[in-house]
Amino acid sequence: MFVCVCNAVTENDIRSAASRGVDSLEALTSELNVGGCCGSCCEIATECLNNALVTAQPAA
Ligand code: FES
Repeated sequence: MFVCVCNAVTENDIRSAASRGVDSLEALTSELNVGGCCGSCCEIATECLNNALVTAQPAA
């Protein structure tokens, strides 16, 4: 599913970015330009990134 339609960025793209160390919306925008056009995806992109970061954590 596309998270950022303007830049054709999917949930998988965001998960992949998180696995490379992207840990903020600013970094995501820098890497994939998420939110860099209309900005309407910022909230869902942040949620998607946070979910990716949580699931990427090794079990304690
Ligand atoms: S949908 Fe992401 S910048 Fe427009």
